[in-house]
Amino acid sequence: MTAPRRVCVTGAASGIGHAAADAFLANGHHVALVDRDESALTEAVERLTAEHGPGRALPYVVDIAVAGQVESLFARLAEDGGLDTLILAAGVTSDGFVSDMSEHDWSYILGVNLTGSFLCLKGAAPLLRRSSRGSVVAVGSVSAHVVGAGGGCAAYEASKAGLVQLVRAFAVENAPYGVRANVVSPGRTATRLGENTRRLAETVYTSADGPRRERHSFGAPLRFEGRPEEIAGAIHFLAGDDARFITGTELLVDGGYTAI
Ligand SMILES: NC(=O)c1ccc[n+]([C@@H]2O[C@H](COP(=O)([O-])OP(=O)(O)OC[C@H]3O[C@@H](n4cnc5c(N)ncnc54)[C@H](O)[C@@H]3O)[C@@H](O)[C@H]2O)c1
Repeated sequence: MTAPRRVCVTGAASGIGHAAADAFLANGHHVALVDRDESALTEAVERLTAEHGPGRALPYVVDIAVAGQVESLFARLAEDGGLDTLILAAGVTSDGFVSDMSEHDWSYILGVNLTGSFLCLKGAAPLLRRSSRGSVVAVGSVSAHVVGAGGGCAAYEASKAGLVQLVRAFAVENAPYGVRANVVSPGRTATRLGENTRRLAETVYTSADGPRRERHSFGAPLRFEGRPEEIAGAIHFLAGDDARFITGTELLVDGGYTAI
C-alpha cells in the first residue's frame, strides 16, 4: 500500500464516482466526496464510513457547473490539508438531435461535462502543484470517439471529445510541476446514467442500419456491460504511483467497443 493520498472525487454519490471513492478508501486514502445531490451524497458517505471506518470520507455538496461553489470547494480543501489527486467523474447526458436541441439543453450538458471539469481543474491546479505527486483522472467516454448509431447524443459526444483534449492540455501545462493528468473512457457501464443510455439505444439506435446497429444491439465484443468497480480499477491505477510515467493519455475501458 502506498502512502495515503488526499483525493477529491466529483460525482461521488453514485455510479463510477462512488466506486472510485470506494477504491481509494479501500487502499487507505482520504477522500473528499463531491456531488450536487445532497441526500445521495449523505447516504454514500454513511455507507463508505460504515465500511472503511470514520474520518476518511467527507462530503462536499457542490454543483461543479457553478464557478463560486467550485472556488469555495478548493479553498476548503486547501485549508483542510491540500490535494494529491482529483477524479472528475460528475457527468450528465441527455438525448436530442442537433436540429431539435435547444441552446439551453446544449449549454446544460457542456456546462457540467466540459465547463464544470474546466472549473475543477482550474481550482485544483495550485493545490496539485504543491503536492509531490499530483494527479488527475477525468472520466471521458467512448462517445468522445464514436457517434451513437442514429445520432441523438451530440451534446454529450461533443462534451466528452472536448474533455479529452482539455485534460491533455492540462497534462502538458502541468508536467513541469510533476502533475500528471489522464482520461479513463468507459463503454456502457451499469449505472443510472448507463441506464439512460440503454433506453436511448432502444428508441433511437434500433432505427439505424449496418455494423453500428449490430454493435448497439449486441454490445461490445466482450458482450457484457462494465461494472462501476471495473472502471474504478482503471482510475485507481492511473491516479497512483504505478502510472508515474503516464500522462496526457486516454485509457479506453469498453469491452472492445471502439475496436470494431
Ligand atoms: N455509465 C455509463 O455507461 C458511462 C459510459 C461512459 C462514460 N460515463 C461517464 O462516467 C461518469 C459518471 O457517470 P455514471 O455512469 O457513474 O452516472 P451516475 O448518474 O450514476 O453518477 C453521476 C453523478 O454525478 C453527479 N453530478 C451530475 N452533475 C453534477 C454537477 N453539476 N455537480 C456535481 N455533481 C454532479 C450526479 O448527482 C451523480 O451522483 C460521467 O462523466 C459519465 O459521462 C458513463
